[in-house]
Amino acid sequence: MTIRLIPQISDLRRELDAARSEGKQVGFVPTMGYLHDGHASLMRAARADNDLVVASIFVNPLQFGANEDLSSYPRDLERDTELSAMAGVDVLFTPTVEEMYPNGAVMTSVSVNELSTRWEGATRPSHFAGMATVVTKLFWIVGACRAYFGEKDYQQLTIIRRFTADLSIPVEVVGCPIVRADDGLALSSRNTYLSPEERKAATVLNRALRAAAAVIEDGETDPEVVMETMAGLVDAEPLANLDYAAVVDPETLVVPERIPPVCRLLIAAQVGRPRLLDNLGVTAPGGAQ
Ligand code: PAJ
Repeated sequence: MTIRLIPQISDLRRELDAARSEGKQVGFVPTMGYLHDGHASLMRAARADNDLVVASIFVNPLQFGANEDLSSYPRDLERDTELSAMAGVDVLFTPTVEEMYPNGAVMTSVSVNELSTRWEGATRPSHFAGMATVVTKLFWIVGACRAYFGEKDYQQLTIIRRFTADLSIPVEVVGCPIVRADDGLALSSRNTYLSPEERKAATVLNRALRAAAAVIEDGETDPEVVMETMAGLVDAEPLANLDYAAVVDPETLVVPERIPPVCRLLIAAQVGRPRLLDNLGVTAPGGAQ
């Protein structure tokens, strides 16, 4: 089946309601476009589990801060359409800003308290409310479905799981593993901003995560020691500027007093123009698999 582009909310709703009334299961992959294999992995997972796959491409102004890259965010609809078709998407929802926000500034916002204020939220105060608001809108537009998100944006995924449960939204949130380049760098649309030297330096994020994981797997129980391991490696890379490197509880995202059996390592650093994110799940010795 060939992929179809649908820019109107009403057309998409009609199509998906009809599919559900025939007993079809809908898989949904929200994106901001400039797609890479990380996005494609979510689309393939949705294809494997569902009868009809819809992906959205919408660069959501609400989740960009005043000094962020909204106007220069990379876009290539032709290439994105091809990649989506190859990954098994049936319908690409491509609304304009006016279609999504017909009344201009939104007065209503979805905010998830504690989870949104730390880590990414500390430097991007309105980001998660903007993200949660658009994902809630998209969930309302698409309706009951399975929705696929990458662990690459681990805090985002945690927040989406939380508001979906808190608001009883009839969507099953599915988290998918991070897709990386051969040298370990997590794929990201913003990697396109990196110069060749910065691209090399950017591998320090994943190297720091793996070094910290090894320290935990060797039996270290003090989060400070683990966090210093990561910070030390990033500080040694002149082109990288560390924002945070933390070991956290995988659900609350709080730094625990002692490393729990299962934890998540989070890291963010500025490398040249983009801020890059990465994370890794770790099981301490004796922890449940
Ligand atoms: P975007 O950055 O385009 O990412 C869309 C989805 O792709 C997210 O779920 C993200 O975690 C996932 N993704 C990105 N890089 C990945 C990688 N290397 N491996 C696996 N998955 C990856 O995240 C957003 O858009 C927006 O905030 C959105 C949820 C669409 C709301 O506007």
